[in-house]
Amino acid sequence: MRLWGRGTAVRRRMLCLWLLLLGFALVTLALSDFFNRDRERSIQNPGPPRRPLQRIPIPPELEVIVDSRDPALELGVDLTPLKSFQEDQLLFVPSTQGTKNTLQKKGSYKVLLPGKDANVVGAPTHGEMGKAVRLHLEGFEKDMELTAVQKYGFNEVVSERISLHRRLPEARHPECFGEQYSESLPRATVVICFHDEAWSTLLRTVHSVLDTAPKQYLQEVLLVDDLSQQGHLKTVLSEYVSHLDGVRLIRSTRRLGVGACRTLGAARAAGEVLVFMDSHCECHKGWLEPLLERVAQDRTRVLSPIMDVIDWQTFQYNATKWPVRGVFDWRLDFFWESIPQLQEKDPEMAVRPVQSPALGGGVVAIDRHFFQSLGAYDPGMLLWGAEEIELSIRVWSCGGSMEVVPCSRVAHLGRHHLPYRFPDQDLLQRNKIRIADTWMDAYRKIFYRRDTLAHFIRQSESPNITERLRLKRSLGCRNFHWFLTTVYPQLYIPQDRPAQSGELYSVGTGSCADYPSGQGPQGGAMSVAPCSGTGSQHCDLNSEGEVRWGPMGALCLDAKGERVVLAPCPTHRPTASRFQWKFIKLSGQLVHQQSQLCLEAVKEGGPREVSNSAGGGLFLRQCTHHPRQQWHFEQLVAPKGT
Ligand SMILES: *[C@@H]1O[C@H](CO)[C@@H](O)[C@H](O)[C@H]1NC(C)=O
Ligand SMILES: *[C@@H]1O[C@H](CO)[C@@H](O)[C@H](O)[C@H]1NC(C)=O
Repeated sequence: MRLWGRGTAVRRRMLCLWLLLLGFALVTLALSDFFNRDRERSIQNPGPPRRPLQRIPIPPELEVIVDSRDPALELGVDLTPLKSFQEDQLLFVPSTQGTKNTLQKKGSYKVLLPGKDANVVGAPTHGEMGKAVRLHLEGFEKDMELTAVQKYGFNEVVSERISLHRRLPEARHPECFGEQYSESLPRATVVICFHDEAWSTLLRTVHSVLDTAPKQYLQEVLLVDDLSQQGHLKTVLSEYVSHLDGVRLIRSTRRLGVGACRTLGAARAAGEVLVFMDSHCECHKGWLEPLLERVAQDRTRVLSPIMDVIDWQTFQYNATKWPVRGVFDWRLDFFWESIPQLQEKDPEMAVRPVQSPALGGGVVAIDRHFFQSLGAYDPGMLLWGAEEIELSIRVWSCGGSMEVVPCSRVAHLGRHHLPYRFPDQDLLQRNKIRIADTWMDAYRKIFYRRDTLAHFIRQSESPNITERLRLKRSLGCRNFHWFLTTVYPQLYIPQDRPAQSGELYSVGTGSCADYPSGQGPQGGAMSVAPCSGTGSQHCDLNSEGEVRWGPMGALCLDAKGERVVLAPCPTHRPTASRFQWKFIKLSGQLVHQQSQLCLEAVKEGGPREVSNSAGGGLFLRQCTHHPRQQWHFEQLVAPKGT
């Protein structure tokens, strides 16, 4: 009995143990299933990227959501303090196109704090890469370079390998080192607007400012995010910036474009001087002080450093040869122009600032109050393009001046192409139309003849420039004639006489005289090509007998043997007969005055009897009445025009 009873007790205890084990196994199974399902879900549908390893509270002033429709902005009035948001409350911006967001797909990233030893590194090092935030991209291979170029317009893969702190080779004139600057210079806010900029180029810009600008002159670096879509520019960037002393980040909830984005930054800036800087620049040591010095001496001076060039493919640094200045042509396109003749006259030129009819948008320094009183950037200008020309004309016409300062150098990444498409093909023309109608008075006709697309847009719609004209009146700005004669007398003013200007149409070939692009600004052989109708083939036979070509009118029809070429126009009057042509309306002949030969068009693979003209082009021949020697000046825009 007892034995049995004892046996039963043992068996019962065993049963309990089994049940317990079974229960435990069931619970474990259920739990693991639960976890697995959770993981599956998180793989299928990645949420926002997980928090970085080191969670550092974000100072409330770091993130600002700005609704830029604030009317105060347009008037350049200081804004009331804007509401701050925590990181999690950031407006979510859905990606519009099917751009793959690697960050979100992988769902993991890591923040590494910048190292203490982050100093001078000349050559690219791999170790340096780890100092910045690294996205863990698997399979990041050679052919990514192509993708990177497509995505950013430059070789971002090469850029990634270069230190965020690289120091550029010295390019300043030795005399710059002896320059003395006053002790009490105004402080600068460097405003850097960006839209989907690559991580490496954006952060190299920021670090290069921090590494080169003396602390006492740098109020802050103000990053303005113009509605970027790419993941690395969101939380990751906020985190990174929160560790940088003297760097603030604000974000716009609306795509602003360069001008409005800079205006927004200006409204939030604390420094006395604004330095607008593109988001892919590298500064030379000592770049800031000479700019501040010139502003301090005269608050209406607007300044640019010498803009050196970073090669988009190799990231090689190319110094720009001094002296240069900024100019624009009659199509309202900006470029830097080399002016070696200045240096020959005056050896002291090497360190002296040079007045400049215009400044590029890469880096511009301007007194904050002067900028605001001048009306900031034109808020009617869209996205990107020609805003630097508008600002230039306005600065000069309304009481300011512009200079390039040779002891200040900043390198700018010259992109291969713009990484984003204009939503509207005509956007650039619309910006230029605003300039023409606001600032150019009757001279605007010259622009419309050289940009016929702008002309046709203007015929069907008018820009609303009411506010800008009011501003122009209230500032008492001078007219464009004053600008042309006083500031930019070197710009040729076309005469555009009826029947003596326009596309040079060849009756015999049914095409137009053309200057193939890519032959350079110093001239080259002329050719014939289908008539473009865009104004790009516009030329002007003036009263001097010169046939002026191109949007600058700085190249003239000339002859090299029997070949007709373009060459820099003569600067002396009267014009040498080599450059003189006579148009005989009745026969359509264009006669070269020096040789008394006629202009003849030869198409590529043209008639055999025309010797020595393989490839076609324009030639001087004995005058005949052959249709190849018959020409019309086709004016695409009526002389009375817009
Ligand atoms: C920079 O200089 C190199 C060599 O002189 C040249 O091949 C390259 O085209 C230059 N790049 C730019 C962007 O000017
Ligand atoms: C032009 O803009 C001003 C304000 O900038 C506005 O008051 C006016 O109504 C606009 N005119 C037209 C025709 O849209």
